[in-house]
Amino acid sequence: MNPRRIPLIAGNWKMHHGGASGLDLALEVAKLSRELRGVEVVVAPPFTVLAAVAQSLEELAEQRGLLVGVAGQNMHFEEKGAFTGEVSAPMLVDAGCRWVILGHSERRQLFGETDELVARKTKAALEHKLHPIVCVGETLEERTAGKTLEVVLRQVRAAMPALISARGAAVIAYEPVWAIGTGKVATPADAQEVHAAIRAELLKEGGDAIATPTRILYGGSVKPDNARALLAQTDIDGALVGGASLDVAQFGGILQAAAALVGGAA
Ligand code: PGA
Repeated sequence: MNPRRIPLIAGNWKMHHGGASGLDLALEVAKLSRELRGVEVVVAPPFTVLAAVAQSLEELAEQRGLLVGVAGQNMHFEEKGAFTGEVSAPMLVDAGCRWVILGHSERRQLFGETDELVARKTKAALEHKLHPIVCVGETLEERTAGKTLEVVLRQVRAAMPALISARGAAVIAYEPVWAIGTGKVATPADAQEVHAAIRAELLKEGGDAIATPTRILYGGSVKPDNARALLAQTDIDGALVGGASLDVAQFGGILQAAAALVGGAA
C-alpha cells in the first residue's frame, strides 16, 4: 500500500447470491464497513439482485453514512441493441452501480473475451462514468514458460488509452489465473513484482498523473490469513476477492487486514 492511494477491497460474488441471500450479504458487508476507516469497499453481486442491493445500500448510506459501492460483473460496450443476454453501461448505472468488473479471467477463458473486447468495454464504462476494474493475469502455463510479464503487460497495454483517459478513476486487478479459486496464492514478493511492472508501464505510457493514482488490486485466493502480507506490498492497493467474499467473517477479516495497515481498524 501507499498512503497516496485509498485501499479498495472488492467482493466478486460470481454466480452466487442472486436473490434474497444477496441482500442479506450486502447488508452484513455494510455493517462490517461501518467499523472501518480509510478502506473503500465494493460488492459485485449477480445482475438479478444488483438494483435491490444498490438501493438498500443507498438507503443505509443516507441513514448512517455507510458507503459500500456496487459493481456489475460484466457489461456490453454498446449502449443498447439486439444483444440477447447482455447488459449495458447505462443499465448498470440505472441499477445503481458505480463500478464494473471487466475482463475477468473467467470471461476471457470461458466466454472468449479478447484484449480488444475488454479495451472497448473499458472505454464504454468510463464514458458512462463507471469505474472499471480491469482484470489481467497469466495462466499457469504462461507463468511456467516465463511469460508472466509479457502476457500481463500485453493485457494492460490493450486497455492503456482508456486507462490514461481515466486519470486514476480506473482500477486494474492482477489475478494470476492459477491462483483463482484454487487456494494457491502468489507470494507477496511475486505479486509485488508484477504490480510494480504494471505501474512502471502506466508511468511510461501515461506519466505520473496516471501511475500514481491508479489502484492495482491483487486477486486469487485472498483470505484473512494472507491478506495482510499481500496488502503490505508497496504496489498492492487492495484486493479482488472471490470465494472469501461470500463469507461475512472471511470478508470481514480481509477488510480488517486492510484497515489495520492504514490505521483504520476497529
Ligand atoms: P478467489 O477469486 O478469491 O475465489 O480466488 C478471485 C476472483 O476470481 O476474482
